[in-house]
Amino acid sequence: MVKRFSVPRGTCDILPENVMVWQDIETKARQILHTYGYKEIRTPIFEETELFARSMGQTSDVVQKQMLSLQSQKKSDEQDLDAGGLSLRPEGTASIVRSYIENSFDKKENLSKLFYLGPMFRGERPQKGRLRQFHQIGAEAIGPGSASPYLDAEIISLCVNILKSFGLNNFKLKINTLGSAQDKESFSKKLRDAIKPQVTALCEDCRQRFERNVFRILDCKNESCKNIIRKVNISDDYLSAESKEYYVLVKEALKNLNIEFIESPHLVRGLDYYTHTVFEISDSSLGSQDALGAGGRYNNLVTQLDGPEVDAIGFALGIERILLAKSKDPMPAPRKLDAFIVALDEKSLKEAFQILNFIRLAGVSSDMSFKLSSMKSQMRLADKLGAQSVIILGENELSRECVTLKNMQTGNQEEVSINNKDYNQLSKLLLERHS
Ligand code: HAM
Repeated sequence: MVKRFSVPRGTCDILPENVMVWQDIETKARQILHTYGYKEIRTPIFEETELFARSMGQTSDVVQKQMLSLQSQKKSDEQDLDAGGLSLRPEGTASIVRSYIENSFDKKENLSKLFYLGPMFRGERPQKGRLRQFHQIGAEAIGPGSASPYLDAEIISLCVNILKSFGLNNFKLKINTLGSAQDKESFSKKLRDAIKPQVTALCEDCRQRFERNVFRILDCKNESCKNIIRKVNISDDYLSAESKEYYVLVKEALKNLNIEFIESPHLVRGLDYYTHTVFEISDSSLGSQDALGAGGRYNNLVTQLDGPEVDAIGFALGIERILLAKSKDPMPAPRKLDAFIVALDEKSLKEAFQILNFIRLAGVSSDMSFKLSSMKSQMRLADKLGAQSVIILGENELSRECVTLKNMQTGNQEEVSINNKDYNQLSKLLLERHS
């Protein structure tokens, strides 16, 4: 038996009937991002594995368990392709920062506002809302000019406004601050002290997290770990006065923009690079994978990757989760064809093919059946494709150098000249009708 292939687990085809919803989301997101002054950037879908390890952190779940690394068949001359030297990007931030440094953005502008749209890859165990290939809409504001609480408020409100533009309103925004790198260190120490007496009751993963990165325990989905965490009292005494003041300004700016938020001291985020403000937007109707998007500040990442000393903040939204949250919405009506050409014999088919090419170049969306069949079956196809007009061409029309143009809405028919193969009048009529 010949093997029949299926789409790889944790990925999916976006079929033509669903593509319009995707395009709609992408167009709306692009429009809003442009109004906020963000410019699109496109980076490769794979990068050096080390870039991700050094950005997200060796101990993050993404780097430890979910990297999809490339392995080449070539051994000798393309060493960089071998043994996991390259990995598919699990997120966009690290790549954008790499590009920011490599292209010396800091020499060109005080604040670089960049956005991206595209597939990301994580070797996760697939479930509803959790895929191995998923798509993100992300934005990053990097540069000396990023050091302002107003930019934290801008990034958060931008993220919220993009979701609202998709018609989503039932989401919750949680925010927290981790403080500076130094504050984070002290936060980590306090957390370890608080959890230490119960470390043996933690799950195996969390016992390792306790040693390597205690923040990760706060995200554990295991019920017994959650119970332990719930009882840990997290006060903000790990924050310096400066960090506290910064956070107050961010919250004040959000309030002034009427952005509702919940302060969540347990929100620490799964990636190492965060400092100061972190946030997550969730929709409880999505079940366990409820985060529509998330982000935060990462003031030390650019320097950590050997770049200039500049601050940065960003977010990423997951398109598949947005679509799940929107799945109760009616599907948009499929796009209709302007015209369909019905040819009734071989000679007409030849001419019809030329007409089709001409009107398409003029901007009329159109099609035809490339094989001869009865008028009835071609009309049926025109109907199925939603054609607004049908151009009929047979022996009778050819001999008089004209076509019959039928308006499918009114049923009206008229003859249009194609004298000397001049199709201008026909395409003008169609364009007027469908503009
Ligand atoms: P993240 O929280 O790992 O953050 O991912 C952001 C969003 O991507 C999630 O909230 C979710 O909607 C979506 N997502 C993540 N993993 C999956 C998956 N396996 N299947 C489906 N959707 C998924 C980041 O990626 C950071 N780079 C965000 C950021 C940008 N922080 C600063 N700048």
